[in-house]
Amino acid sequence: MTERSKKTDPDWQLQHYASVGKDYGNKHFTQADSEFTSWILEQIAAVNRAANTLAEVGAGTCVFASLLGKQLEVDQKVTCYEPVAALLEAASKYENVDATCGGALEFAAHATSNHFDLIYTKDTAHHFAKEALDEIHDGICDKLVSGGRYAMVVRTPPNHDSVPVGKIASKKWPSLYTSLNDLLQSMRRVSGWQEIEFTRWEKYVSTSAVEWLDGIKRRDTWSVFSALTPEETEGTVVELQEQFDGDEWFPFLHQYDVAIFEKA
Ligand SMILES: C[S@@+](CC[C@H](N)C(=O)[O-])C[C@H]1O[C@@H](n2cnc3c(N)ncnc32)[C@H](O)[C@@H]1O
Repeated sequence: MTERSKKTDPDWQLQHYASVGKDYGNKHFTQADSEFTSWILEQIAAVNRAANTLAEVGAGTCVFASLLGKQLEVDQKVTCYEPVAALLEAASKYENVDATCGGALEFAAHATSNHFDLIYTKDTAHHFAKEALDEIHDGICDKLVSGGRYAMVVRTPPNHDSVPVGKIASKKWPSLYTSLNDLLQSMRRVSGWQEIEFTRWEKYVSTSAVEWLDGIKRRDTWSVFSALTPEETEGTVVELQEQFDGDEWFPFLHQYDVAIFEKA
């Protein structure tokens, strides 16, 4: 194993995304035309409305990057780094995206220095290996222009009262992913930028209970469900069916912890 690969995230996480592949863009909360997408794009766009050079690290199918580029009316392609080749197959349909197959460490090592007005990660930073955080954050800071901003947008770990992932997934979450605390501590160690804001973004979106449960059963939405055994999945579905109590729709709480840093 090379020094670099030792620092990347566990295989099962990348395998989860590889197995969903280019269809990931049709899954829950990745559809281009949805209330959630409009809301999250507006939140990210507001981080730097004057941005003309954009990059997303861990861009998945690149759908959000493409839409954000259009929303901010940038005249350059949006730079996307994504380590899972199967997801990037979907990116070929977005003409305003320049996609590279590589993770955050590759972005830190190879993207252009002093170039971006806005770099963001959405639903991705929790996958960064703890050992790699300082290298990743030093690299991201290096890629920003002076006055450029990095927005880390990461889901708040679900608990029983918020997003219905069930007790088992909720309990496993902290052992599966890099914590917000580790991410923040690493970002705060970088001397070239300063913290502008640490906040929480929240929005309820009415969501189909059947679709949410189907995604859990198929393990093709959130990676946490790929970490459950078949028995745990079954138990989770039974638990959530009881919780929904026959409701067809439920208010899904999209809850993000967000840290914004600006380069000096
Ligand atoms: C939940 S998906 C989010 C994808 C995209 N940002 C979106 O919102 O649709 C998490 C993404 O992080 C990527 N990822 C995992 N480890 C990564 C790493 N070390 N560097 C960059 N991306 C990574 C996965 O391949 C996956 O595409």
